[in-house]
Amino acid sequence: MLSSRTFTTALRSSRSTLARTYATTSNSPTAKFEGRKNAGGKYVVTLIPGDGIGPEISESVKQIYTAAKVPIEWEEVSVEPILKDGKTAIPDAAIESVKRNTVALKGPLATPIGKGHVSLNLTLRRTFNLFANVRPCVSVQGYKTLYDDVNTVLIRENTEGEYSGIEHEIVDGVVQSIKLITYPASERVARYAFHYAQANGRKHVTAVHKANIMKMSDGMFLNACRQVAKEYPEIKYDEDLLDRVCLQVVQNPKPYSERVMVMPNLYGDILSDMCAGLIGGLGLTPSGNIGRDASIFEAVHGSAPDIAGKGLANPTALLLSSLMMLRHMELYDFAEKIEKAALGTIAEGKTITGDLGGKSSTKEYTAAIIAKLK
Ligand SMILES: NC(=O)c1ccc[n+]([C@@H]2O[C@H](COP(=O)([O-])OP(=O)(O)OC[C@H]3O[C@@H](n4cnc5c(N)ncnc54)[C@H](O)[C@@H]3O)[C@@H](O)[C@H]2O)c1
Repeated sequence: MLSSRTFTTALRSSRSTLARTYATTSNSPTAKFEGRKNAGGKYVVTLIPGDGIGPEISESVKQIYTAAKVPIEWEEVSVEPILKDGKTAIPDAAIESVKRNTVALKGPLATPIGKGHVSLNLTLRRTFNLFANVRPCVSVQGYKTLYDDVNTVLIRENTEGEYSGIEHEIVDGVVQSIKLITYPASERVARYAFHYAQANGRKHVTAVHKANIMKMSDGMFLNACRQVAKEYPEIKYDEDLLDRVCLQVVQNPKPYSERVMVMPNLYGDILSDMCAGLIGGLGLTPSGNIGRDASIFEAVHGSAPDIAGKGLANPTALLLSSLMMLRHMELYDFAEKIEKAALGTIAEGKTITGDLGGKSSTKEYTAAIIAKLK
């Protein structure tokens, strides 16, 4: 159900909207969280630690959750690819775990470029039909960037478009890559965007596109958005070109704090990193991959192989992603408590990691957050 809390500061207020993001109503495009509790009364949640810095930042989240007494038991699974019928696949145990628990927290997974197995990130999204990728970017107090008032929400179609993975060589030196856009997938993500806007008090949805060039594919995406918009007469709907939005957001992000942006896959991938840049980079940016029957929450950044194993990684993005998950599970108070401790630690600026301009290790930063929980 929707939370009626009010917060005093703008930051809190913008973040509080996230508290209601995943609360679902009967007309919701996603199923309400009906988690499984173990004998001890704790919810079982799948944890995919991932590659590179994944295990280090996952460990940090686990320690913070233990200290905050969050009623969660982690079911840790590996998604290291296996060969199934000659093809690389995610192990059955991992798939079964996510199916059972319906929520998962995932560390970054490295993807080989130009060769080897298909992206496991893509495979997970396809396996669980995680059709919407939600990426909020909110300014973090204490981490000074050009703007103090960034509060964007971007919803990216997550299953098709330019990432359909349909590529072939027609003749030597000529490769074709197919951008597949379907009406049902466009309509589904559009409905989620309007639902999100409604549930979070955002009064405006903007569809971001390049239908001036890709008239049929992006044109159909826009058509789906227009149809769904009719179901939400209280929410203003408009459309804008991707390149114009990029320019406008970097020049003045303020108007975007009242709206939700929805767009096809590739545009969302790029634009969301640009928004992340406005708040200080990938180390601070959470995301949720939302499906009808399961949702997987993950940091936007990758496995950071250059710093893996050195104890330098910033676990904030994974931690904030886990807070999106807690709110999805309606564990609002725990999310709020941990968020206050983490953001308070960053605002103080004494014990922060190198990417934020500090000198502290992952362990020291984690300990500072835990100290604030007490
Ligand atoms: N969702 C995912 O699992 C995901 C997302 C993006 C990239 N990847 C994969 O990750 C691998 C590495 O990708 P990349 O190097 O392009 O991007 P990256 O995000 O891993 O790293 C980019 C830069 O940011 C730094 N960085 C990233 N996260 C950080 C953190 N939490 N704390 C401190 N610094 C951090 C890194 O040290 C690096 O300098 C690739 O195999 C890529 O495919 C996975």
